[in-house]
Amino acid sequence: MDMSKMDKLVSLCKRRGFIFQSSEIYGGLNGFWDYGPLGVELKRNIKEAWWRDMVQAHDDLATLPGAPSPYEMTGLDCTIIMHPQIWKVSGHYDLFHDFMVDCRETNKRYRYDQVVGRWATCKDQRVFVSVLPETDHPDKEVEARALKFFGLRAKQADQLAWDGPVVSLDQVKEFAAPQPADPNLLRQGGKAYLTSGNYLAPDAKTLNTMTPPREFNLMFKTIVGAMGTEEDAAFLRPETAQGIFVNYKNVVDSSRVKIPFGIAQIGKSFRNEITPRNFTFRSREFEQMEIEFFCKPETSPQWYTFWRDRRYQWYLNLGLARDRLRLRDHHKEELSHYSCGTADIEYAFPFLAAGDFGELEGIAHRGDFDLRSHMEGKLAKQGDTLVVELGADGKPKYKGSGKDLSYFEEATKERFIPHVIEPSAGADRATLAFLCEAYHEEEVKGEQRVVLKLHPRIAPFKAAIFPLVNKDGMPDVAQKIYRDMKQQFTVFYDDKGAVGRRYRRQDEAGTPYCITVDGQTLQDQTVTIRDRDTLVQERVAIAELESVIRARLRS
Ligand code: GAP
Repeated sequence: MDMSKMDKLVSLCKRRGFIFQSSEIYGGLNGFWDYGPLGVELKRNIKEAWWRDMVQAHDDLATLPGAPSPYEMTGLDCTIIMHPQIWKVSGHYDLFHDFMVDCRETNKRYRYDQVVGRWATCKDQRVFVSVLPETDHPDKEVEARALKFFGLRAKQADQLAWDGPVVSLDQVKEFAAPQPADPNLLRQGGKAYLTSGNYLAPDAKTLNTMTPPREFNLMFKTIVGAMGTEEDAAFLRPETAQGIFVNYKNVVDSSRVKIPFGIAQIGKSFRNEITPRNFTFRSREFEQMEIEFFCKPETSPQWYTFWRDRRYQWYLNLGLARDRLRLRDHHKEELSHYSCGTADIEYAFPFLAAGDFGELEGIAHRGDFDLRSHMEGKLAKQGDTLVVELGADGKPKYKGSGKDLSYFEEATKERFIPHVIEPSAGADRATLAFLCEAYHEEEVKGEQRVVLKLHPRIAPFKAAIFPLVNKDGMPDVAQKIYRDMKQQFTVFYDDKGAVGRRYRRQDEAGTPYCITVDGQTLQDQTVTIRDRDTLVQERVAIAELESVIRARLRS
């Protein structure tokens, strides 16, 4: 799918009520998205499929293929705002940041690693021309900007001499963070701008207008209570995971689960992303579906492999194509210091350059890092071990809870701190991936149709019911079918317009089956079922409709 098809998907999402820009009538709010009538059903179905497959339908007594033993699963739903110490201990307060640069000419802010450019020389002037790549061809965008900057026409492109490939700004040594006393820093409005280096910021007309890279914490800050002082500051959670760790003891004490077991949670997370982009892919408010799986240290590598493969298969089962979905194991250097393995499940989103993949879910082996941090305080690496990080006064920089989060295994009389495997998925990214995968343009009997080939389990409506015409008693029969089926499935009734147009509307909504009441129905109590993907129509007795649809949804 090229970019124009992505544009078509975005426009379909708005036109058919899948996804709207948040606060649109006020001009919108960047990085925030609302799910419309169809979108809310789709996203709920995805979350429900995840919860059902991972938690409710999990068989605690069976050993699943690839698992070292049976395991238990349970759920949790905790608050978005939690004790601020949690984020200090977890490392988010100190370390959860991106680098950003500000432009004083355009007042725009960019993520340092997302600005790309190339050195161009013309008329003895060498300039790093940068852009925020919008297409698969940043080199062409850079060339267009360079031509404009040097006042050249397209046919004079040979007057530009290029030096090196297109690289991101964080690869350009002239742009590395300078010392505070650097004479090339211009201080203005509380910021310092890098006035040397001969670079052209994205969207700027003049040279050297950006700040050097600065850290920017991604957590949203808020105030709890009426006093409004800094001591009352709290954060909107940037991940649901920490809520699970801090409730780990509550769950063990109250539910009598035994290791190995997992705690699952679905909920909103918030990150003040510097440059939210690519539709819902990088949002500032989004939903996560996370599992923290607690196991004995010695079996943790096997559990890591089990979860990695199981989660990959889950996306395949729900319809993502194998050639657009990949499992990428992180290299040793990419791993967090406490991890013995991390993998990303990635999808070839259509807004990415050909051959590029974007993260859908991460599966991380987190060792005992999280439980130990919440016991002892924020940990830091010292040599090959994790030790409590100390402040200038020699005391723990951020104190843990002091609670004992170790686990006593009755059967072996062993006490240990469990290791954790964390499959962490994004509900919005999964929704986007399923939408991208489902979007098809086809020709049917000489007519173009847009169809969302969503897996029936996640489709917003399972069936639509139509009377062929609004007379001869057909609406009465169709309405009765609609009411009966509504007890079991999400179904839609439509009696407006020609039946062909009604089919097209349901194709765009991703409805897998359309049931039509016609003249024959009145004689033999049968209806037609039209399959969205094959377009095959079959006659089925009304009395068997429910079981037929149920069987098809299961297959
Ligand atoms: N607890 C681990 C954790 O939060 P992460 O890789 O930062 O790991 C997990 O996030 C998943 O959450 C990602 O794979 C992605 O699906 C989703 N996610 C993260 N940031 C997001 C954003 N800004 N917008 C939408 N989804 C996001």
